[in-house]
Amino acid sequence: MTATLTAGRPQPTATSPLFSPFWLGRLRLPNRIVMPPLTRARADEHGVPSPLAARYYTQRAGAGLIIAEATAVSAQGTGYGNWPGLYTAAQEAGWRTVTDAVHAAGGRIFIQLFHAGRMSHPAFHDGERPVGPSPIAAGPATDHYDGAHPFTRPRALRAAELAGIAGQFAAAAGRALTAGFDGVEVHAGNGYLLDQFLRDGANQRDDEYGGNPRNRARLLREVTAAVISVCGSSRVGVRISPLSPTNGMADSDPAATFTQAARDLQALGAGYLHVIEPGVNGTLSGPASAQSPELASGFFRPMFSGAIIAAGGHTAQTGAGRIRHDQADLIAYGQLFIANPDLPARFRHGAPLARPQRATFYGGGAAGYTDYPALGQPPRVAGNTGQ
Ligand SMILES: Cc1cc2nc3c(=O)[nH]c(=O)nc-3n(C[C@H](O)[C@H](O)[C@H](O)COP(=O)(O)O)c2cc1C
Repeated sequence: MTATLTAGRPQPTATSPLFSPFWLGRLRLPNRIVMPPLTRARADEHGVPSPLAARYYTQRAGAGLIIAEATAVSAQGTGYGNWPGLYTAAQEAGWRTVTDAVHAAGGRIFIQLFHAGRMSHPAFHDGERPVGPSPIAAGPATDHYDGAHPFTRPRALRAAELAGIAGQFAAAAGRALTAGFDGVEVHAGNGYLLDQFLRDGANQRDDEYGGNPRNRARLLREVTAAVISVCGSSRVGVRISPLSPTNGMADSDPAATFTQAARDLQALGAGYLHVIEPGVNGTLSGPASAQSPELASGFFRPMFSGAIIAAGGHTAQTGAGRIRHDQADLIAYGQLFIANPDLPARFRHGAPLARPQRATFYGGGAAGYTDYPALGQPPRVAGNTGQ
């Protein structure tokens, strides 16, 4: 648990740069505080968002920007039970209720689009193997499907299939706009398909999609270009996690790989680059200031002129520092947003922060999802305030 979460009352931050407005393309964000994508695994068996999702996101509409959770672009891209999708009319209609509610509450909302690649399981594909850049499994650990089998060795996608992957992202982006999202985040981090192509621990292809960084970044380029052609560049961001080992990922030269990726995204005019910083693994980590600055948000400033979002272990103070030092424009707060639906208000007033409960991160209903109280509301479920 971080010091911030356990310490007494944080300092009020009303004068913090976190509370200066920011223009993301033509979208005015009233503050710099981003709710990053957070998988909560509460969609139905058809990937339709839970009826509770509209309430959950609306409770967090005070964020400068919400980026909704990782959402599959296709049936092929699914990989986990109860994660949402955006490739059927029912899923699109489900998301529409979310965007309508968030907008009615004065918020702004993007959606993160992803393809699981090798992280999927044959159970999701009528017994067929999941796909990836190369036939390399995510690792010897047991998979997430039943916890009883090692990860599946994926089938290597043929080069001729890759235009279809870009097409899946573009189609889902079109549905995202129809469903009322303000924009789309392409997920190129955390060991999913686009990250698998980027990093040479998972990509050992010898065609034009493998080998040097430029070739490994080709699929991300093609996917991002396809999504931009649908949404327009200012409504498209990309998330990367350059040093994260999540999902068995590794790279022999991350600085070279991600410099290439960032330069490509710059050339495409992508609206933002969202950087999961080193030392962060989706867990409550130490303060970002204690981590290595290598490949953190500031590394990308000289090569990317769009907005930069920094994510990973940030507090109100470290986030403000990133902005003051011109290393990022926007700061994402993951676990803090799970437990504090009114996080910007709490930062502003220096109010105590509630602790997230891990047991209710994934799956289930309202408990640990929509029942974390805002300031001044009584706790609905004993134990969720953490104070
Ligand atoms: C429950 C949970 C679900 C997450 N789901 C996603 C996701 O869908 N997509 C993604 O890019 N990152 C995901 N992350 C990572 C977060 O967006 C964030 O980068 C991470 O939690 C570090 O930030 P924090 O220290 O502020 O929580 C998830 C993290 C948690 C704890």
